[in-house]
Amino acid sequence: MIKKCLFPAAGYGTRFLPATKSMPKEMMPVVNKPLIEYGVDEAVEAGMTEICMVTGRGKRALEDHFDINYELEHQISGTGKESMLGHIRGVMESCRFSYTRQTEMKGLGHAILTGQTLVGDQPFAVVLADDLCVNPGGPGVLAQMAKLYRQFRCSIVAVQEVPEDQVHKYGVIAGDVIRDDILRVTDMVEKPTREEAPSNLAIIGRYILTPDIFDLIANTEPGKGGEIQITDALLKQAQEGCVLAYRFKGTRFDCGSVEGFIDATNYCYDHFYRAGE
Ligand code: UTP
Repeated sequence: MIKKCLFPAAGYGTRFLPATKSMPKEMMPVVNKPLIEYGVDEAVEAGMTEICMVTGRGKRALEDHFDINYELEHQISGTGKESMLGHIRGVMESCRFSYTRQTEMKGLGHAILTGQTLVGDQPFAVVLADDLCVNPGGPGVLAQMAKLYRQFRCSIVAVQEVPEDQVHKYGVIAGDVIRDDILRVTDMVEKPTREEAPSNLAIIGRYILTPDIFDLIANTEPGKGGEIQITDALLKQAQEGCVLAYRFKGTRFDCGSVEGFIDATNYCYDHFYRAGE
């Protein structure tokens, strides 16, 4: 039922400098596939066919990746290498891609608001491609959340427990338990200190949002770090209506950090690449 998936991908990726000086963070390959393609695959698996990307300066490689490269494809046509593009061709044929640009990096909330022009007035998913999520043998995280949306019809954020000394990196929630893996959000704090954190349940880069979030973001003042935070708009939505936090099944790698990126690379090499040899 949710057909659109928004990929905010305009950030600078400063934790990965100098690699990200002229290359989008989302194009960094985990083994032989860029991060963005893992995210798009997860959206497609969840039944989404309209891929909307918020890009920025220096991010044109993202658009090129989901386009035909005539010269290259002509060159490898009829060789054994052609099959290496088979998967992405299938994705390109089954989805529609649209792009808009965030001209000033004013935060994730602002990036999502920039995507309104592509999303329109319907519920949509959000994937931060630098969070790579896997759930081998079961549905992907976005597919799990799309199923929940069909039941609850409200915004949903994916959460996981993190060590207390890590809470300052995340939006952190508190909520009332309504099922062993679902909480109804009552509080949400962006990048809290250990003392401010209402729990150790951290929001990761998967969301399902109802379109009323756009007005809420538009009326949100800059928060932590001077950025317009999606967390602040979601707290308003939780207070006025309902936001759920979902403890997803699977593993998430923070590929925005060097350590998470290396862990994801080792995992994908063992589980996908070598297993497929
Ligand atoms: P991050 O803070 O993790 O990404 O934002 P970043 O700013 O690119 O990375 P660092 O911290 O400097 O290394 C989370 C997501 O939100 C997007 C980013 O592209 C990333 O996917 N984002 C963030 C935007 O699209 N626009 C923004 O203004 C900020």
